[in-house]
Amino acid sequence: MQPNSLQPNSLQPKRILLIVGGGIAAYKVLDLCRLIRRKGLLVRAVMTKTAGEFVTPLSLGSVTGDKVYGELFSLTDEAEMGHIELSRDADLVVVAPATANLLAKMAHGLADDLATTLLLATDKKVLAAPAMNLRMWAHPATRRNVERLTADGVTFIGPASGSMACGEFGVGRLAEPPAILAAIETMLSGDTLIPLPDGAWADAGDSGRRPLSGRHVIVTSGPTHEPIDPVRYIANRSSGKQGHAIAAAAAAAGARVTLVSGPVALPDPFGVTTVHVETAREMQDAVDRAMPCDIFIGAAAVADWRTGDVAGQKLKKGHGNPSELTLVENPDILAGVARRTVARPRLVVGFAAETTDVLAHAKAKLARKGCDLIVANDVSTSGETPGGVMGQATNTVHLIDRDGIESWPTMGKEAIAERLVARLAAMLAK
Ligand SMILES: Cc1cc2nc3c(=O)[nH]c(=O)nc-3n(C[C@H](O)[C@H](O)[C@H](O)COP(=O)(O)O)c2cc1C
Repeated sequence: MQPNSLQPNSLQPKRILLIVGGGIAAYKVLDLCRLIRRKGLLVRAVMTKTAGEFVTPLSLGSVTGDKVYGELFSLTDEAEMGHIELSRDADLVVVAPATANLLAKMAHGLADDLATTLLLATDKKVLAAPAMNLRMWAHPATRRNVERLTADGVTFIGPASGSMACGEFGVGRLAEPPAILAAIETMLSGDTLIPLPDGAWADAGDSGRRPLSGRHVIVTSGPTHEPIDPVRYIANRSSGKQGHAIAAAAAAAGARVTLVSGPVALPDPFGVTTVHVETAREMQDAVDRAMPCDIFIGAAAVADWRTGDVAGQKLKKGHGNPSELTLVENPDILAGVARRTVARPRLVVGFAAETTDVLAHAKAKLARKGCDLIVANDVSTSGETPGGVMGQATNTVHLIDRDGIESWPTMGKEAIAERLVARLAAMLAK
C-alpha cells in the first residue's frame, strides 16, 4: 500500500497552518493551497516579512479563502486570535518553503516574528519543505540545523534535485506540491514517518518488517532529450508513468529509492529522492553517483543516439541540410550497470519496449545486456493510441529471466509496479 493512500474525504475537518518563508519557491505554495483545499482540508497561511517580497497576501488569501497573518504585534489579530491560539488551532503545521534562515531559527528556538513564534509555541507536528540554493542546503550549518530539527521531531519532505532558479543544478528545489500534499495526508492520517538518508522516508513503526527495508533501489524513468540545437531535441513518447510507479512502490516497500528521471510531466513520487536529468549522459552520471544499490531498475526509455555535434545557435532553414545530422550512440546505462565487476547490484532489471517480436527481442536483450530480468512490453500503436502503452494508465508485460517467461494480464501501471517490487523483494530474500 502507498504511504499516502487515504479515503478522499476522511480528512475533511483537519486544519493546516502554513508558514510561508521568503524564498523564490514561495509562489508554489499557491498551488499547494489549491491542492490542500481540493482535498477538503482547511488552510490558514502565515507569511514571514520576506515572503511578502515573493508572493502577495492578497494572492495567498484568495487561495486559502482566509485572512493571511504576518504581524506578531497586530492588535486586531491578537484581539481575534492570539498567537498561541493560532499555533494550536491547527492539526498540522507546514513550513513551505522552509528557508535556510527559518530552519536556523527553528533549530535554535528563535521567536522574533509571528512565524517563528508560532513554530515555537505549537504543540502540533511540523512538516518542513526546504527550498534553497544547493550550497545553502549543503552548508554544514544547514546540515546541523536539519539534524537538530529531525531529532526534535520535525519531518522533512525534500528538497528535490534539479535545475534551480539561480541557474545551478543540484539538491535544493522545493518538493513538488503534490508530493507535499501526500506528506501532509500521511502525517494527518496518524502514520509516523522517519527520514532516512537522502530524503527517503520509512514508517517508524514497521521499518524492520517491510520487504525492502534497508535496501537501496535505483530506478530510471521517462525519456531522455538529446539536444540538436538550443531549442530542438530528439525525444521519445515515454511518459515515465511506469518507472515513477515502480519508484513509489519500492519506497512503500521500505526501500531507500533514488529515481533518476528524464523530462516528464509527473510529480516527484513521495518518499523518493528524485534526480532530474535531460540527456542520456546526464542520466548515466546520476546513476553512477547514486550507486551502489541492491536493485537497479532501468525503466527509462534512454535515447539510443544523440547528435554528434550540438549547434550552439538555433539552426535556420536554408542553412545546412537537416538530413545531414550526424548521430552517435549513447552510453548503454543498463548494460553498464549489469556488467559492473565492482559493486554490481544484486538485481539488475531492464525494460524492453518493442513493437515487433516482443518476446524474442526481450530474450535477446536479457542475454546481450547481462541483466537478471527483463520486463517486456509491446508498445506498438493500436491505431487509436499513438505510442501504444506509452502515456497510458495500463500495461501488459512479460517477465523474462534465464528460467523462462511469465506473462501477466493487463493491469494498471501501479499494480504492475507493486507486483514487480514484491517479486524483486522475494528474489532478494532468496
Ligand atoms: C531573489 C531571492 C531569492 C531567495 N531565495 C531563497 C530561497 O529559495 N531559499 C532560502 O533559504 N533563502 C532565499 N533567499 C534569502 C532569504 O530571502 C533570506 O534569507 C531571508 O532572510 C529569509 O527570510 P525568512 O526566513 O524570514 O522568510 C532569497 C533571497 C533573494 C533576494
